[in-house]
Amino acid sequence: MTILVTGARGNVGRAVLDELVAAGQDVRAASRDATALEVPDGVAKVSADLEDPSTLDAAVAGVSAVFLYTRPQGIEGFVKAAHAAGVGHVVLLSSAATLEPESAQSRIAQLHHAVEQALAAAPFASTVLNPGAFATNTLGWRADIAEGVVRTAYPDSRIGAIHERDIAAVAARILIDGSHVGEALALTGPEPISFREQAATLADVLGRPLPVEELTAEEAAGRMTALGWPPEVPPEILRAWARTVREPSLVTDVVREVTGRPPRTFRQWAEDHRADFTRPPGVGSV
Ligand SMILES: NC(=O)c1ccc[n+]([C@@H]2O[C@H](COP(=O)([O-])OP(=O)(O)OC[C@H]3O[C@@H](n4cnc5c(N)ncnc54)[C@H](OP(=O)(O)O)[C@@H]3O)[C@@H](O)[C@H]2O)c1
Repeated sequence: MTILVTGARGNVGRAVLDELVAAGQDVRAASRDATALEVPDGVAKVSADLEDPSTLDAAVAGVSAVFLYTRPQGIEGFVKAAHAAGVGHVVLLSSAATLEPESAQSRIAQLHHAVEQALAAAPFASTVLNPGAFATNTLGWRADIAEGVVRTAYPDSRIGAIHERDIAAVAARILIDGSHVGEALALTGPEPISFREQAATLADVLGRPLPVEELTAEEAAGRMTALGWPPEVPPEILRAWARTVREPSLVTDVVREVTGRPPRTFRQWAEDHRADFTRPPGVGSV
């Protein structure tokens, strides 16, 4: 049976696709624009917009399991189409934000929670992945790194940065096995690591100094807003960073429990992404 990977051009989606292909699975890759997809031989491509249910029937036809990105607008249409097609299991890329104590006040948590709830009520099996901060967030430093610095607020915020390949390895394992039904899995990297330590690691891997210039919270919020982030999101993120200066974010052993191997370190991530920091920032920057 076929496994559908939505967001197959995304950081995590592409890694899920690669994991499934390496495991010999029959995979269909989805994007809102299938012509933009570059996939390995033998992988079918389909255009599907999760916010436009009229595009979903062809994407889910003959599919047994789906790797799903969170798109609250259209989730009901997705559930309907997936059920009609006989999909048995959906693995959702959600967020650790829904597990935080203040999630009721969090816009990010609300968006993910809406999709988690819709899947919990759906007539097929589902598993929710709740990763914490992605190591790929440091791709957002590329323009500053090109200038020889890293600029961030709260440089001593310590987060359990997770490699997208570890999220993908967990997702692929579950999609293939049909395991962990009804579970919500908090995924993190192996250890809390500060932004300052991430910058030092990147400097080491790239072979050039990268001093950290500390931004005020207002400056950092301004930069996020300029990137087009909704206005309520930067304050949430900055509050989380302030908190994790005082108290590092928790790390879990779930990647190892599901995949049998420990999560990759930030150094491993930096080595895997060395080339991303030596070409100009463009599509895919976060
Ligand atoms: N960054 C973090 O620290 C963090 C932490 C926890 C959770 N998350 C969650 O992880 C997700 C981001 O993952 P990522 O880094 O892999 O994202 P990404 O690289 O930005 O890719 C996003 C993908 O979503 C797809 N997409 C967007 N709108 C769509 C739509 N209407 N219909 C179908 N597909 C759509 C895009 O596909 P096309 O453009 O090809 O259509 C793209 O492949 C977000 O939901 C975020 O909240 C992030």
